[in-house]
Amino acid sequence: MHRKPSWILVSTFLSLSFLTACAQNSGKSKDAEGHQWWQHAVFYEIYPRSFADSNNDGIGDLKGITSKLNYLKDLGVDAIWISPCFPSPQVDFGYNVSDYENIDPMYGTLADFDVLASEAKKRGIHIILDFVVNHTSDQHKWFLDSKSSRTSEHRDWYVWRDGKGPGHPPNNWNSDFGGSAWKFDPTTNQYYYHYFYVQQPDLNWRNPAVKDAMFDVTRWWYQRGVSGFRLDAVDTLFEDPNLRDNPVTGGTNPYGDPYEEKIYTTKLPEVHDVLRGLRKVTDQYNGVLIGETWTANIAELNKYYGESNNELQLPMDFLFTTVNKLSPAEFRKQIAAVDAASGWPTFVISNHDIVRSYDRYGDGQHNDQIAKLMAGLYLTLRGTPILYYGEEIGMKTTPPMRKEDVKDPIGRTGWPKEKGRDGERTPMQWNESANAGFSTAASWLPVPPTAATHNVADESKDPDSVLAFYKKVLKLRHANRALLDGTYVPLNENDQNVLSYLRSYKDQVVLVALNMSGAEQKINFEMSQHGFSTTKSLVATGTSSAKGDVVTLEPYGVFIGQLSK
Ligand code: GLC
Ligand code: CA
Repeated sequence: MHRKPSWILVSTFLSLSFLTACAQNSGKSKDAEGHQWWQHAVFYEIYPRSFADSNNDGIGDLKGITSKLNYLKDLGVDAIWISPCFPSPQVDFGYNVSDYENIDPMYGTLADFDVLASEAKKRGIHIILDFVVNHTSDQHKWFLDSKSSRTSEHRDWYVWRDGKGPGHPPNNWNSDFGGSAWKFDPTTNQYYYHYFYVQQPDLNWRNPAVKDAMFDVTRWWYQRGVSGFRLDAVDTLFEDPNLRDNPVTGGTNPYGDPYEEKIYTTKLPEVHDVLRGLRKVTDQYNGVLIGETWTANIAELNKYYGESNNELQLPMDFLFTTVNKLSPAEFRKQIAAVDAASGWPTFVISNHDIVRSYDRYGDGQHNDQIAKLMAGLYLTLRGTPILYYGEEIGMKTTPPMRKEDVKDPIGRTGWPKEKGRDGERTPMQWNESANAGFSTAASWLPVPPTAATHNVADESKDPDSVLAFYKKVLKLRHANRALLDGTYVPLNENDQNVLSYLRSYKDQVVLVALNMSGAEQKINFEMSQHGFSTTKSLVATGTSSAKGDVVTLEPYGVFIGQLSK
């Protein structure tokens, strides 16, 4: 069937794009075109436990990451975000930090970090660390001192309160990971607050000493060569000082706790003062701040960019992760919203806390095609993509089958409704050898059976693999000005099968057409009526191609083409 596109005047967008670019990049360290390094960089999230194990103890490590830098460079990665690798009792696998200025021995040493940093630098790869800002480990020296007495130096570094009476916590706030968010400590007869696990006491960000100490942590790492931070759980930094109860909304969550509207424990406006302060430090080092900001809408997202783009450069909106089916209309809506936001867009489709995109979008039969389709989407939009390790080879979520095999504590508390996050954290699949080449020892989480068909070695040899497709798109993206900087112009906004758009920059125009259906689609884009005489295929899957004004897309096919006058 031939459908008519709804063209929007590309020229209007060309002039707008220039103005937007100027507004967004008032600051230093811009390139000749006015962009900063993180706007053109492709980011890659590494879950260090699961990436590559150099000393064969079954747990990934920093030397393992260093050994894979050539792979990452070849893939087209410009920055790696390493999930927490600091000393930690590992209750939440590194998200309970006991020393912010060191490396956990299971991951290596500071010397190993320095080697990683210098080897990455040689390849032009930036390093981003995961900064757990809301809470420390209960084993951090600050907390050990804090709990030791009501008058200790660090007492007010955490949130301590009296209960309502024996056995009664200060209010109804629940932990995101189950149970009350308050833990009674008999040494001083008070409760401390923990938004996450009991072993993750919340820092008191109302105390300026906490702020100073935490800002210094970032300076310490910047001076060691890192290029920025991913700020963990930023919306949980502050809670209501009056401890008002959260409204209860009815029903119980997988942990058996009443659902609460977390109005007094998340997204308090005070967080923006902290972000502005951190950004000032960041700007001194030409760094970047990525935020784990689970925004529900664009107004909220805009707040995280800051009123004058002076907070987070890359707040992860996660709006794509709320679209769990191949729906052009839904994606169009989210892209348009993010594209119109007040800062540079960030696109994420998977991470270490959510089911992988392979399973969220895959139909069980065409998962590899659909993985390429999703790559064709989030790697060609205006903004910075953040890839989760393994997405590029089509890794599948493989949750544990039995409660006794679960490693993530929330999977044990919430079983069977909540199986935890082990499924999306399985070892990277490098080759077909034992343990998928991740380690010669048994790995901390079992290697999924799909490693036999989806691994780096085999996919590197197959020109049709998901990996080969990722490489092609990333190579194109790095060299194509329209894909890097061009405006986003949606086409055919009523099409229920095909998501299509232009990326246009000066006289360069790229057409992206993504078939989100299982049937072949033919679309007449009427390029010739708009003065474009040729459509050159840049990257396409299978038989997807253009002839004259008509683009033919195979089921779940991708076509990316350059339009010329
Ligand atoms: C963030 C992390 C998650 C962790 C939590 C507590 O949501 O992404 O993995 O469990 O913060 O630190
Ligand atoms: Ca190891």
